[in-house]
Amino acid sequence: MEFFIDTGDLEEIKTAYEWGIIDGVTTNPSLVAKAGIDQKTLITSISEIVDGPISAEVISSDAKGMLEEAYELAKIHENVVIKLPMTKDGMIACKQLSKDDIKTNVTLVFSANQALLAAKNGATYVSPFVGRLDDIGQTGMALIAEIRDIFDNYGYATKILAASIRHCDHVKASALMASDVATVPFKVLEQLFHHPLTKIGLDKFMADHQNAKK
Ligand code: G3P
Repeated sequence: MEFFIDTGDLEEIKTAYEWGIIDGVTTNPSLVAKAGIDQKTLITSISEIVDGPISAEVISSDAKGMLEEAYELAKIHENVVIKLPMTKDGMIACKQLSKDDIKTNVTLVFSANQALLAAKNGATYVSPFVGRLDDIGQTGMALIAEIRDIFDNYGYATKILAASIRHCDHVKASALMASDVATVPFKVLEQLFHHPLTKIGLDKFMADHQNAKK
């Protein structure tokens, strides 16, 4: 499974990239706003750190506006992936960008049917938001399993990008359900490294090593 980092924080991206586990980056308008710099500058800076897909989201609500934004964003770097909302206009833009050979990530996907529509229109990635489904009392991870089955049934090349990941169990479940990618916030990426027995074991090894030297 590929790991993307879900952030617009350049320090987080640099740190996680050094760990060697990051294959790409996802951003959204909320994360860009939080970064406090304009989207073009942010995406350019990310492309100087990470050699992998970088999702940059459009903010227009009509297909024409989305496409205009998409062509500008795509000029920033060949790794830019255009993030489009799961709307009718988003799907029109998705179909066109697929014809133009520009990579897309259809976001705000909350049902298997939405993912199916995105795949039919040639999306490179679909982003099911598992955490936000959990928030409303549904089981977000069940959606990943449904989409996996549907894509496998028809051989769609569209990649499943599990998004709105909130904790380590979401990451594990994504891998068990054969999600192609999980986009993970920095805090959760950090937590993935930890296990209490690793710490206890390492402390014991170090103590034994020190005692042996005496
Ligand atoms: O990038 C989209 C997604 O991962 C958002 O996550 O935590 O705001 O639901 P969250």
